[in-house]
Order: sequence, then structure tokens, then C-alpha cells
Amino acid sequence: MEKRLNKIEEEALREIEAAKSGEELEAIRTRYMGRKGYFTEFLKSMKDLPQDQRPVLGAKANALKAKLTKLFESKIKTFGKKEGILESSVDITMPGAEDMRLGHKHPITKIISRINEIFIGLGFKIAEGPEIETEYYNFEALNIPLEHPSRDVFDTFYIKRPMLLRSQTSTVQIRVMENEKPPLQVIAPGKVYRPDAVDASHSFMFHQVEGFMVDKEIKFSDLKGTLSLFARQMFGEDAKIRFRPHFFPFTEPSAEVDVSCIMCGGKGCRVCSYKGWLEILGAGMINPKVFEAVGYNPEKWTGYAFGMGVERIAMLKYGINDIRLFFENDLRFLRQF
Ligand code: DAH
Repeated sequence: MEKRLNKIEEEALREIEAAKSGEELEAIRTRYMGRKGYFTEFLKSMKDLPQDQRPVLGAKANALKAKLTKLFESKIKTFGKKEGILESSVDITMPGAEDMRLGHKHPITKIISRINEIFIGLGFKIAEGPEIETEYYNFEALNIPLEHPSRDVFDTFYIKRPMLLRSQTSTVQIRVMENEKPPLQVIAPGKVYRPDAVDASHSFMFHQVEGFMVDKEIKFSDLKGTLSLFARQMFGEDAKIRFRPHFFPFTEPSAEVDVSCIMCGGKGCRVCSYKGWLEILGAGMINPKVFEAVGYNPEKWTGYAFGMGVERIAMLKYGINDIRLFFENDLRFLRQF
């Protein structure tokens, strides 16, 4: 037995001495000290020894174990320095190759939150509607007749008629009014879809926020006041708005609304094509035909409605010149917001 122990010692020392890498050393350590290692096996076989021999050999074995353990430790240190694998050489307080970053809101989500916040402050509540709609909600109830060009298959994504992907969030006006009684002050943010060729200013999917108010004796001046307040909160105290007469089937009268150019303050620059104004939304007084469609008495109720494109507002606010950037998921872009 004692001879065996001496042999183990001799060979282990020789192998440790000859080891050329941390890996090799680790393999040697397992071979001797591992669960099925020579040394471990030796300790197990000691139980077969006669009682009187055990203490002497046991003490020797323990001494050898301590010696080998120490040797492994000091030898691995010499590799650790070279290979950088030594535990104690790893500075655990050092930042990783790429530090963990917290995610944050997408710029479009941020703008929608800001719009919501402004209108909630004015007493509006938020409503949502489905993205898969019917021709009735997207067109008919909004007084858009069958022959209107926007109902053409080139301007709307039809699934299987009458199902379609909504092309505007004005649909939510109908859905809310069908289910609720006036007075109402509602904004409806969400995605809309149009089969436009994708370029710097067009995307087949984008976001709109629709807003409307229904009560007795709502006037155009209420619309003007609300939107100019919105413009000031969104774009800054100096922001002005102007209304240009326009046509929308669901409002009468209707207007396109411009905000004074947020880049040049109205003096004229490349962003506003030297006009001093930027179009940001459509608006008007809710057409009595829309009230009739939802069963409201047009003699009794009045209201205004407006709809804005979120990407357009985000592009103006952040100075972004290509709508595609919002949807490419490029972190180099998104991390800037
Ligand atoms: N739905 C219109 C669009 O997608 C935007 C709009 C214009 C909404 C005028 C309105 C409105 O509520 O009154 O182009």
C-alpha cells in the first residue's frame, strides 16, 4: 500500500511538472484527485487495510493530498498569468464587452404618448378600434360614397370584401358614437394601412390619431382653440396654426391645418419648402350625415373632428427625413430617442 502511495506521488509530481497548459493541468488533477481519480481510489481502498496500519498511512495520504492540492494551485497560477483563465485574475468589477442596456419607448410610441397626454389634459378620453375593419366603418358611415377614389383597390388593402385593413382612424368615431351617448371627447390613436409605394415619405403602414368632440353647440372656434393649444404644447409656445379650406366627406366645413414651420419659425426654409408652414392634420365640423349614420339627431348634436399623422409629427419634431427609419429596427437610429 505504501509503495502504491509513493508511486502515485512520484507520478503526480512528474506529470504536474510537465504540464504545459491550464487545461492539461486540469486533466491531470481530475485523473488523480477527481471522483474516480487514482488518489481518490487509493483513499477508498484504505478501508481494506488492517486497523493498526490505517492511522500511519492515513496521515501520509492526507499530507500528500495537501501537497498535491497546493502544487496544483501554484502551478495553475503560472498558467493563469499567461492564459488569463485564472479566477483571481478576472476583475469581476470590469464592465462587460457590451454593457446591458435598458430598452426604451420607440419614438412613434413616445409621440403618441405625448399627444395622448395633451388631449387627456383637455378632458379627452382614449378609445381604440380594430385594424381589420369593414367597408361600412371605413367608408359608408363616414359618408364616403362607393365611387370615391379612396375606395379603389389601389388605395385600400382589401382582405375579402367587405373586410379591409382600415385606411384611417376616423373609423373609431363611428364605433364610439354607436356605443355611447354624447357629450363625447375622444382621441383614437392607432395603425392604419394604405397600399402606397414605400419611399422616404410613404409607408404602407403608419399611425394616426383621430380626435373628436360631440356636444350641443360646438363651434368651429372650439376646434380652432383646441388645435392651437395642441400645437403650442406639441411644438412650443411660439407655434401658430392656420386653416386652409379643404374637402373631407365626414366633416363640413373641412380644413387642412398647418403649423408654423418649427425649423425656421415661419421665415421659410428647405423643410417647409420656403412656405413657412407645415401641414399637420385635417379637421372640420362633423357632417350631419355621420350623425345620422350612428343614430344621433343632427338637429340636436354638433361636433368637430380632426385626424393627424403621427410619423409626420415625429419627423418634424425630431428632424427625421425618412419615414422608413421608424420601421427598420436599426438600434443606431432608435437609441437616439
Ligand atoms: N381621416 C383623414 C385622413 O386619413 C384625416 C382627417 C381629416 C380626419 C379630417 C378627420 C377630419 O377627422 O375631420 O386623411
